[in-house]
Amino acid sequence: MGQHVVITGASSGIGAALARELGQRGYSVGLLARRADKLAELAESMRSAGAEVATASADVCDRDGLLVGIRQLEQTLGPCTVLVANAGIGGRLDPTDWDPEPNRKVFEVNYFGALNAVEVVIGGMLERGAGQLVVISSVAATRGLPPAGPYSASKAAISTMWEALRVQLAPKGIHCLTVHPGFVKTPLTAGNDFEMPFLVPAETAAGWIADAMANKRRELTFPWQMALVRWFMKRVPEWLFDRVIGRRG
Ligand SMILES: NC(=O)c1ccc[n+]([C@@H]2O[C@H](COP(=O)([O-])OP(=O)(O)OC[C@H]3O[C@@H](n4cnc5c(N)ncnc54)[C@H](OP(=O)(O)O)[C@@H]3O)[C@@H](O)[C@H]2O)c1
Repeated sequence: MGQHVVITGASSGIGAALARELGQRGYSVGLLARRADKLAELAESMRSAGAEVATASADVCDRDGLLVGIRQLEQTLGPCTVLVANAGIGGRLDPTDWDPEPNRKVFEVNYFGALNAVEVVIGGMLERGAGQLVVISSVAATRGLPPAGPYSASKAAISTMWEALRVQLAPKGIHCLTVHPGFVKTPLTAGNDFEMPFLVPAETAAGWIADAMANKRRELTFPWQMALVRWFMKRVPEWLFDRVIGRRG
């Protein structure tokens, strides 16, 4: 059976680039996001490059809508054999001007949204005793990075959850991969008003993610400079972390 990958958040950035990459590598690609027009545009250009593609417009926070969307993709492309839970949003918090809403929303999309998608495909994967679950987390999952505390927390939560799933699902034939990207040039980072070290194009990121999927890696951090940063970030004591990150503001 050919591979049918469902990618959430496929209408732009990393998701769209990964869709193109996997389409070129022979996967059937199910594109899912809220903006139907963007998905249709991408699907058309992928089809003209020879890929098999279907689209579904859904919000990952809406469990019923997501179920309908993924089933729609499966009707066209066959059972989902690979899920890439990529849909995500940024989230900042200013503790001097507390607003609970962005905090809640970022968890709804980045954490629950990813798990809502797993919920739809896990039954079929368990039945077949095969499948792959990929989550696009972030280097920001490593420590609490102000002012993006809510974003860091949501990514730490999903990375931790994926790790537990990885251990539980391996004996069932389901492989889990957690991706921790550094800075990638996408609409999400376009508004950042600070210098982004080791920024990589979305197409480069997509190639690395596709390789990690093919090689059944458990974890991928990129680029290598960010893997090094993540290694140190995990290990520095709190006082040093506060001093370095505090100075960056
Ligand atoms: N860019 C980076 O530097 C970077 C670094 C680390 C991690 N990441 C992670 O990579 C992933 C992709 O980000 P990106 O940089 O490619 O950003 P992006 O270009 O803004 O793409 C985000 C995607 O998520 C979709 N999305 C957002 N909310 C959704 C919802 N409620 N339901 C369904 N789809 C939703 C958007 O589509 P619609 O608006 O059409 O729904 C869009 O396709 C995110 O999880 C992000 O946290 C990015």
